[in-house]
Amino acid sequence: MQDKIPAIGLGTFRLQGQVVIDSVRAGLELGYRHIDTAQIYGNEADVGTAIAQSGVPRTELFVTTKVWTSNLEAGKLIPSLEASLDKLRLERVDLALVHWPSPQDAVPVAEYMQALLEAKRAGLARMIGISNFTIRHMRQAIDAVGAAEIATNQVEIHPFLQNRAVVAFAREHGIHLTAYMPLAYGKVMTDPVIAGIAERHGANPAQIALAWSLQQGYAVIPSSTKRANLGSNLGAARITLSDEDMAAIATLEANDRIANPEGIAPEWD
Ligand SMILES: NC(=O)c1ccc[n+]([C@@H]2O[C@H](COP(=O)([O-])OP(=O)(O)OC[C@H]3O[C@@H](n4cnc5c(N)ncnc54)[C@H](OP(=O)(O)O)[C@@H]3O)[C@@H](O)[C@H]2O)c1
Repeated sequence: MQDKIPAIGLGTFRLQGQVVIDSVRAGLELGYRHIDTAQIYGNEADVGTAIAQSGVPRTELFVTTKVWTSNLEAGKLIPSLEASLDKLRLERVDLALVHWPSPQDAVPVAEYMQALLEAKRAGLARMIGISNFTIRHMRQAIDAVGAAEIATNQVEIHPFLQNRAVVAFAREHGIHLTAYMPLAYGKVMTDPVIAGIAERHGANPAQIALAWSLQQGYAVIPSSTKRANLGSNLGAARITLSDEDMAAIATLEANDRIANPEGIAPEWD
């Protein structure tokens, strides 16, 4: 049983069918034990297939899914998680997240946080958390269920969007962070500052970007369709960046947000 969120997980956004089955199976063979999916990705059943085929004992795995915005009403959240569990062929997930705050706050934060807590108490999820929550939404979630119930806030973090205000507020309240799109969807590969640091460490730029997040205590969930990249991304855990390296990457902040879906994204901090 994983009692903490494993620091390196495998993202599955965009990956469908045999592509996601192959990615998750390769990841599990290479040693990943944390898989990140979501209702909206449309791949929970494929992730379930990959897990079943892998033969990795359930107790070693940490599986996250995310509740879509159409399922946030109190009467819908638990049935939607039950449907996710059927697809994943699991009795419970390790972590169930609210994928985005309800667009335009149509459903109050307290309503879905309490439903999510009820899901945890009913045994559908070992831990619960939030994703894409702003400071305002975090405050309301804390008021609803208490910070101790919030296992993580999964937000976009990479060298070009460091999300410092959200990070500072989460830390102040003891809420862990998970960095999604930690490679800025591949953009870190072409940055000259990151490339220079990579060269000095005998590493590749993806490993440096992941090490930068890991060193700040964030979990990371990079995705890849390539076995070699899946393997090298895991190697980020062995890299220690110097204070100078960390400071150089800190200068790359550019408020360069990639995940900003119209009609869904909140007003960012
Ligand atoms: N909560 C949310 O709202 C939210 C939003 C977005 C994403 N996420 C989660 O975060 C995960 C990661 O985000 P993401 O997949 O969008 O972006 P990402 O992990 O930042 O980047 C993935 C891209 O980088 C490439 N890549 C991966 N490793 C590489 C390496 N070692 N060298 C060179 N290129 C490499 C991949 O291509 P190859 O396939 O060619 O390796 C892919 O194009 C998602 O899969 C999802 O689980 C959550």
